[in-house]
Amino acid sequence: MFMAIPLKMFSDAAQAAEQVARELSDLIRSKPNAVLGLATGGTPLLLYRELIRMHREEGLSFAQVRTFNLDEYEGLAKDHVESYWHFMHQNLFHHIDIAAENIHLPSGTMPADEVEAHCQAYEDAIRAAGGIDYQILGIGRNGHIGFNEPGSTATSRTRRIELCSVTRGDAASAFGSIEQVPSHAITMGCGTILEAKCIALLAFGEHKAEIVKQALHGPVSDQVTASFLQQHGNTTFFLDAAAAGESQLWPKYSRNPQQNHGISRPLCAAHQGNFSKRHHSLAKFFSAEFFQIGNGNGTIQGKLSWACATQCA
Ligand code: PGA
Repeated sequence: MFMAIPLKMFSDAAQAAEQVARELSDLIRSKPNAVLGLATGGTPLLLYRELIRMHREEGLSFAQVRTFNLDEYEGLAKDHVESYWHFMHQNLFHHIDIAAENIHLPSGTMPADEVEAHCQAYEDAIRAAGGIDYQILGIGRNGHIGFNEPGSTATSRTRRIELCSVTRGDAASAFGSIEQVPSHAITMGCGTILEAKCIALLAFGEHKAEIVKQALHGPVSDQVTASFLQQHGNTTFFLDAAAAGESQLWPKYSRNPQQNHGISRPLCAAHQGNFSKRHHSLAKFFSAEFFQIGNGNGTIQGKLSWACATQCA
């Protein structure tokens, strides 16, 4: 069944990261032993920086928080500079008060005959922790979430996977060349991810616009595994304006508000009670684009909140 995924769009990645960090800190303050699903890559870096700031300046404690990362490269030891273990410690764990025993990443160095049991143990550990409360995702240019490459099913579980050429190509500069990028990885499955109670997918930059559009509006397909999120029910996309593709994401409507009045007026009327006049005129402009995908309240509200964020920035 198709469900519009709510979006929150921000004028830049830093504002999006702040919003997600705020949601995470609210969760942790209400549930100190919350279970977080974490991602690596360039996308969540600003989010992790903001969480570190909140720890230092606002007393946000991770002492009881439990974390499970999405994936790890095969063949890389923990201390390899390109391992996700190393990434997470460099960019988050070393800077907060999380307990070492509460950190979980799949291992990329299990002997071949132990990989399956290791993946099962990872699934069991997530379940024993009570499931993931809040999952952070990026999106690959081929639409992958975690390392669930095209062809991964919606019910897939934590497993070994072969990385496709787009993914390896995108990692080539970090490794020096595509040949040096590991050919395989261990990843949480799509089914594992979809069991998270709440999911935030972050995407920033123009190079993500096309795949974001497919994930949001394309058919639910194993060729774009992020499209499975359409069936999740509690996923939000946090985008900067470039990843949202601005006019190309909703090509049917002009960005000229004058040409969208027929669409924007009813939406604004519906929200009249909730917004001040100055927010309202912004909302009126932006909601026109949203309307095409907005067949649920969450979608429309998501867009309006961007209008506010933009106005207040
Ligand atoms: P990126 O990777 O954050 O480095 O763009 C995202 C992903 O591949 O999931």
